[in-house]
Amino acid sequence: MPETERRLEYSAPGKVILFGEHAVVYGRPALAVPVSQVRATAIIEPSPPGSGLTIVAPQIGKYISPATAPGDEPLSFAARLTLERLHVGEPDAVLTISSTIPVAGGLGSGAAVSTALVRALAAFLGFEPGNAWISELVFEVEKIHHGTPSGIDNTVIAYEQPVYFRRGYPVLRLHAGAPFTLLIADTGIRSLTREVVGYVRRAWEAQRAHYEALFDRIGELAERARNAIEAGDIHALGLLMDENHALLAGLGVSSPELDLLVETARAAGALGAKLSGAGRGGNMVALVEEEAAARVMEALKQAGAVNVIRTQVTR
Ligand code: MEV
Repeated sequence: MPETERRLEYSAPGKVILFGEHAVVYGRPALAVPVSQVRATAIIEPSPPGSGLTIVAPQIGKYISPATAPGDEPLSFAARLTLERLHVGEPDAVLTISSTIPVAGGLGSGAAVSTALVRALAAFLGFEPGNAWISELVFEVEKIHHGTPSGIDNTVIAYEQPVYFRRGYPVLRLHAGAPFTLLIADTGIRSLTREVVGYVRRAWEAQRAHYEALFDRIGELAERARNAIEAGDIHALGLLMDENHALLAGLGVSSPELDLLVETARAAGALGAKLSGAGRGGNMVALVEEEAAARVMEALKQAGAVNVIRTQVTR
């Protein structure tokens, strides 16, 4: 395949998990939607012959040559795996990565960066791999970030569509019967998914029956939430979010800051709210009716949210 001589730009969205985080690692279903208001971007440009591939990520002060980088450096791992799977050598190019998705905030920053990088590098080499191919490759990179990822982050981000996800089953697109509005509020506390997932694993190992029962209940909520979304029943959906938050708190992955934002959103008129992603920090998500959105957003900021994103899930 001939190398292009063009500057190419690809981006990938953030994501928010609506139902089923943690339980999804243990085979239960989960629901997630892309958040296109925040994105990771990869720009690839040709560099002088013989210069090889360089990955630059100015926001995190990284300047990497994948050929010599440590094996577990995620950006170069993603690049090397892409080249290996496409059966091509390293191009002479500079890949510049940037992102508006907060790191370690539960919004899929790692998977979005990898997705944008893989798409840009493949396109530069003349390939246009499908979503399934990208998702599967990014899943391998996610193992570096997360240890034991379920695969939901790479799936919702690579497909950039609402998904019903269950490990080992085909990806299903979630169709909303009516559009609904979400507010995603950041506690400002960074929390590493790998650590929280590790904490849940140790707790599960110590009390397997108890945790399996909690995962079952979370999985049932995800199934009911899928029906509510498809039926356009946002009132039912809100109540299910509240129940999911209570079960996540029972798993030990909430925090005082998350609980405060969840309670604030409900008190200001949200239909339901819960933490989203690994928890212990990062973001929460609230379901709101259009007319309540500005009020709930303001209340979340007053309660200490460092950022609030408003997004809509369309039909
Ligand atoms: C992270 O976005 C969601 C978790 O369920 C981990 C995973 O599914 O890999 C906490």
